[in-house]
Amino acid sequence: MIKVLFVCLGNICRSPLAQAVFMQKLKEADMVDHFHVDSCGTSGYHIGEEPDDRTIETCRQYSLQLQHRARQVTPLDLRTYDHILVMDRHNLEDVRQLAGKYGYDHRHVRLLREFDFNPDADYVPDPYYGNMSDFEQVYHILNRSCQGLLDHIMETHSIG
Ligand code: 4NP
Repeated sequence: MIKVLFVCLGNICRSPLAQAVFMQKLKEADMVDHFHVDSCGTSGYHIGEEPDDRTIETCRQYSLQLQHRARQVTPLDLRTYDHILVMDRHNLEDVRQLAGKYGYDHRHVRLLREFDFNPDADYVPDPYYGNMSDFEQVYHILNRSCQGLLDHIMETHSIG
């Protein structure tokens, strides 16, 4: 079982959408049974909440399934997950700090956009204070990045 965790700040916009996009790619590749996928936030602002309405609307538009309640990243996540993908450098710093505090390795914590095959930046922009077109843009970024991530994992784990 390959364990993949997506991390953003609030866990209501970018990381649950990334989780839904990645799951869709796993379904298309008939790989769902090989993976455990989750998402969480570095902050505790929205713990227990459903994804943002605009995240849900984006999922509806692209026929993505999404069942998620926001949670905060824990030290155990650093040991449990094989691949931890963060949305921006703030998230990277926060997760690395958490790892450092508990003496855990953080080499498996990476910017998701490292896997974007057509990047215009190294981060996924935060759409929280934006509008539906910002969510649309985030969807396209996540779609490319999640495809690159899946390709990378299939190569490195020799599956598929
Ligand atoms: P996310 O977006 O990190 O992509 O879930 C945000 C959600 C909430 C807040 C900021 C970003 N907030 O400040 O409450």
